[in-house]
Formats: sequence, C-alpha cells, structure tokens
Amino acid sequence: MSNLDALQSSILHEIASAGDESALEAVRVGALGKKGSVSELLKTLGAMGADERRSAGAAINALKDAVTEALAARRGVLRDAAITARLAAEKVDVTLPVRPSPAASGRIHPISQVVDEITAIFSDLGFSVAEGPDIETDHYNFTALNFPEGHPAREMHDTFFFNPGPDGSRKLLRTHTSPVQIRTMEAQKPPIRIVIPGKTYRQDSDATHSPMFHQVEGLVIDRSANVANMKWVLTEFCKAFFEVPSVKMRFRPSFFPFTEPSLEVDIQCDRSRPGEVRFGEGSDWMEILGCGMVHPNVLRIGGLDPDEYQGFAWGMGIDRIAMLKYGMPDLRAFFDADVRWLSHYGFRPLDMPTLFGGLSG
Ligand code: DAH
Repeated sequence: MSNLDALQSSILHEIASAGDESALEAVRVGALGKKGSVSELLKTLGAMGADERRSAGAAINALKDAVTEALAARRGVLRDAAITARLAAEKVDVTLPVRPSPAASGRIHPISQVVDEITAIFSDLGFSVAEGPDIETDHYNFTALNFPEGHPAREMHDTFFFNPGPDGSRKLLRTHTSPVQIRTMEAQKPPIRIVIPGKTYRQDSDATHSPMFHQVEGLVIDRSANVANMKWVLTEFCKAFFEVPSVKMRFRPSFFPFTEPSLEVDIQCDRSRPGEVRFGEGSDWMEILGCGMVHPNVLRIGGLDPDEYQGFAWGMGIDRIAMLKYGMPDLRAFFDADVRWLSHYGFRPLDMPTLFGGLSG
C-alpha cells in the first residue's frame, strides 16, 4: 500500500470512529486544516518537477476529495443522531395532568388576609395605612400615651424589655400599636385618618394568647371628630368585616390612659351552636375592641393644640377577630407554620379582598 493509501485509510478510520460533531471537527482540522496532514502534502507539490507534480497532484487531490466527502457523510449521520437523541430526551407527555402554578398552590396566611380585609374596608371609608417600628422606646409606648411613671397600667402590659443601653434607657417590644398614633401626629398635620395594622408583643401564652400578636389601631383627628362619628365608623366596620347587614354593638365605659372618655365595645353574637359564633344575631356579647376620645395630654405631646383639635382612636386584636370570622379554634396554630393548616385555612393569592368583589370570596 502506498503512503497515500495508508494515510487515507487512517483518516477515514478516524472519521468513522468520531463519536460526535466536535470529535469529527478535530479530525477535519488534523487532515484539512492549515497544518493538517493532507494540506502538508499539498504544500510539497511546489517543489516537484512538472510530471511528478501532475501525477502526485492528482493523487493528493483525490485523497482530499475522499476525505472531504467522508467528513460530510459522517457529519450528516452525527447530526441526525444528535437530533434523534434530543427528541427522545425532550419528549413531552401531553397526556399528563397540568402542574398547578405557584399562584394556584400557594396560600395567603389568614392574618394577612384579615389585614387586607381591614385595610380594604377602611380605605373605602377614606383612611390610609400607617406603620411604625416593632422595637419602641418607653417614651412612645408609654409616656407619650399618658401612662404616668410607675403607673400600674405599665405593668399590666407584661412588656418585653431589652437590656439597658449606654444611657441606661431600655428599648422594648411595643405592647400595642398605639405608639404609632404619636409618631403620626408628629409627622403629619390634621385632618388625620389612619389605620395602623402591625405586630405587638406581651409576655403571655395560652390557647387565646400568643407572645406575638397583631393589632389594628385607628386614629381620626380633625376639628370636630366626636363620639358619634366614632360609633358610626366602628359599626360600619363591623358590618363590613363580619359581612352581615346589621350588628348590635354595646359601648361600655372603660379606662385607657390615652383616651378620655374610654370605652370598650362588645358586639352581639349567638354562641348557642357548639363550636360556632354568629354575629348580628343572638343574645351574647363579645368584647372586640377598646376606643375613646384622644386624651388632651396625648394631643399636646403629639404637637397639637387640644383647644383646636380633637379626635378618636381605637385598638383591636386582629388574631381574635380572624379566629372568630373564620372559625379557628386555637390561636397558636397561626404561628406554627404548618403547611397542612395553611392549605386548609389559607386564602388564594389572587382573591384580593375588596368591598365590591366580596371580602372573603
Ligand atoms: N392600646 C390598647 C391596648 O392594647 C387598645 C386601645 C384602646 C387602643 C383604646 C386605642 C384606644 O387607640 O383608643 O390594650
């Protein structure tokens, strides 16, 4: 066998055994590339005599053609094989059930849902939403709200205190959302109409108390806001929230340092069916919130003149009314992060509560 025949059979063997297109490309470069074995042979033609060049040229070009043809054929085979493999790997079984999107399987926590419902109702009444920090100073949580130093009401709040700072003062986890009343008065001028949903903290833990819980505070301040306005707002809220055409509410005298007069509000309910509470009917009463006219001292500390401005405020436990509305027996389940509980009691993410579309869907 001549040298050319040997080279040809070796290159054709390499072509046949190239397993993919990149291996084949390496063979091509090795033969026909600038420094490839066939290209090197072609370069030798220039130094040959005319006769020798004619016969050698024909033979080398025949080798080149054979190699080129074999490369093209093998490339076609490899390409087909690659497509077939890809089709097999990317096969889609169109008979499989559709996988639900995250929006279909995810759930909104009932507390978030109830906060959305509350803000939807109060937005409709012209309120906006305000927020404040969970870590508060003694000033905002107590002093500015007219709790005198050493007053027993401070102890009643079972406060979580932080260690004292360099100046000896202790920060605390806010025990109610009322400090945001002061922060709002400092930040904006009346008329003020806000609701303040948020987390609150007290050292307390059983089936109906959790050390972290949620409140929604309300604050209205203008030149003439009065108790009648407050009763109307709270009654409208309860009807909308519990989705009943009418509710009976009872306003009882009470005490909070930051309101005068202070009232506690019960709503009429029916607890005669076991494990169920109905609103707007029945002969029982259930306490749902505290409220009152903002104390002149609080207005003054908030930078407002009590001879010019007056207002009302209220505070309500969100977890409590969420449990009542959606029939959840144990408060602690709210904070267990159990997906089975959440998939049962949670809400669909795209069912946003609105007054015109229906609050709870
Ligand atoms: N901050 C009170 C509490 O946590 C609730 C409260 C009562 C808030 C009366 C108010 C109010 O704004 O007027 O017990």
